[in-house]
Amino acid sequence: MTRKRKIEEQIEEESPPEGCHHYQSRQEVPWDIQKYFDQRYSVFSRYDEGIWMTDDSWFGVTPEPIADKIAEHLAQVAPTTKTILIDVFGGAGGNSIAFARSGRWKEVHVIERDAITLACARHNAKVYGVDDVITWYHGDCFEILKDHFTKAAETAVVFASPPWGGPGYRTDQVFDLSLMQPYNLMDLLLPLQTVTKEVVLYLPRTSDLRQFVRFERKGKKLPVIHYCMEGASKALCVYFGDLCVNTLEEDAVNAPTR
Ligand SMILES: C[S@@+](CC[C@H](N)C(=O)[O-])C[C@H]1O[C@@H](n2cnc3c(N)ncnc32)[C@H](O)[C@@H]1O
Repeated sequence: MTRKRKIEEQIEEESPPEGCHHYQSRQEVPWDIQKYFDQRYSVFSRYDEGIWMTDDSWFGVTPEPIADKIAEHLAQVAPTTKTILIDVFGGAGGNSIAFARSGRWKEVHVIERDAITLACARHNAKVYGVDDVITWYHGDCFEILKDHFTKAAETAVVFASPPWGGPGYRTDQVFDLSLMQPYNLMDLLLPLQTVTKEVVLYLPRTSDLRQFVRFERKGKKLPVIHYCMEGASKALCVYFGDLCVNTLEEDAVNAPTR
């Protein structure tokens, strides 16, 4: 039996732990996530191969075309000395899988605080054939960074797609990042930048960009890229540190939806 077939069989046999689901029809899905379920193939094109999600992770997962485009950009803009990618808010694996599939990184480390969500991410990485490329950590990313990555300044890039909770993210025209919960911009960035200055933050498309001015170095503007689907921005990334974003030619993705 080929290795691929063996993995496919394992995936079919595994049953999701309580709290993880592979919903197969809209009727099974709680009403508040039905609209996300309708877009499941944009989220994971291989959804039908047995993707697992917690009900919460539908709200935060990065759709595959966007995750792929970010992974492609980061692969291009990171200096060659950077060989380690740390995804500090792993979620169901949207971004982590894309980073691992890019083949750019010698090591991909993924941290997730919620054990059930982590189980989903690991399983989903198996569906995409990259589970064993990733080193997984269950716990608080700020603690794990302190325990494992204090010497990673020269070799690591940190990617962070934090929860976007708090008043205003869905309704405000401009989202005040000092009110983002549970981590505001300062709570997030300062500990991440103690690991390395090369940090990428994935944030709401309406984020107040004026709040980044204080982080500009030597008068150099911070690059921001909007990531789009069907011509509309879904989110943006801010690239901190020495990441050569100005070498990129294209700055948007248009994802086909089914
Ligand atoms: C927006 S989701 C990430 C989505 C992910 N990029 C994806 O595509 O699936 C944020 C995740 O961070 C996790 N999280 C929140 N605080 C954390 C912490 N301090 N350490 C590690 N994970 C944390 C949450 O449980 C949640 O799964």
